[in-house]
Amino acid sequence: MSYQKLGIVGSGLMGTGIAFVAASRTEAETVVVDVAEELLKKSRASIEGLAARAVEKGQAKQEEAGEWLKRLRFTANYGDLEGASFVIEAVPEDLALKRRVFADLDRLCSEQAVLASNTTGLPITQIASATRHPERVIGAHFFNPAPVMKLVEIVRGYATSEETIQKTKEFCSRLGKETILVEKDYTGFVTTRIYNGYLVEALHCLEEGIASASDIDKACKLAYNHPMGPFELMDLVGLETVLSAMESLHAAHGERFRPSLLLRQMVAAGRLGRKSGSGFYSYVKKEKSA
Ligand SMILES: NC(=O)c1ccc[n+]([C@@H]2O[C@H](COP(=O)([O-])OP(=O)(O)OC[C@H]3O[C@@H](n4cnc5c(N)ncnc54)[C@H](O)[C@@H]3O)[C@@H](O)[C@H]2O)c1
Repeated sequence: MSYQKLGIVGSGLMGTGIAFVAASRTEAETVVVDVAEELLKKSRASIEGLAARAVEKGQAKQEEAGEWLKRLRFTANYGDLEGASFVIEAVPEDLALKRRVFADLDRLCSEQAVLASNTTGLPITQIASATRHPERVIGAHFFNPAPVMKLVEIVRGYATSEETIQKTKEFCSRLGKETILVEKDYTGFVTTRIYNGYLVEALHCLEEGIASASDIDKACKLAYNHPMGPFELMDLVGLETVLSAMESLHAAHGERFRPSLLLRQMVAAGRLGRKSGSGFYSYVKKEKSA
């Protein structure tokens, strides 16, 4: 299938990365929509930076990178998505917001267009039910950073058609990604569910005094070849985000995902990780001593 026009909704961390991949891997016009003009500017600047780095590293010629940038359009006008054959939504993880966005996309895009959500774990079926054509709604969960990470977790909603699944597989493969198919739309899909089981257990080990956070991190990095340990990762993601994902997994799957008291207390105390200056580690630069 050839793509004339693609849409990305939300120009934050994930939307920007996906837009870069789309513009550099397909020849389609790629329209990036956001409600915040300053975030659209930031997104364009990040993509220019990614393109410049690809040239520096010898991964693309200057003219080629110039073509990628020409294919991108940044806009606050949803109407510019009209005619897109594949749209990926990457707005914040809020079900009511995603349902509103999909109802708008459903009105704007032709019945043949695929509407994909990059949600980390919200039910695709509930997002799809905000549209008149739930058969063309699907989950396409990219990982951060999207230009680097190979996997896209494709999620079948209750009404998603086989045709939509095939189109999404083919589209992801065009972007140079590997896919897996999540057959049942259940909170946390595969990756969020498995990874949170690991985080819950790491928190228990710390709470029970089995080992320090830094030793648990060291163990996981060296024993499992993970690039980051669980506590480093939670500090990076933000503890309040980790807690909210765990709470939805707990509500859906029961006791095995109960968030630990330690995690709840740290969030209540405002120790959210890197963004607040401290979490499991401290990120406040030490004053130079005289
Ligand atoms: N951050 C990650 O590591 C990661 C990884 C995989 C999936 N996700 C998922 O991707 C989605 C986006 O996450 P993110 O980290 O990029 O968020 P983000 O906060 O960086 O970006 C969200 C963007 O959406 C825009 N937005 C808000 N309302 C909008 C609307 N009505 N229409 C258009 N744009 C709107 C915001 O202005 C912002 O630019 C979420 O569902 C998240 O769970 C995130």
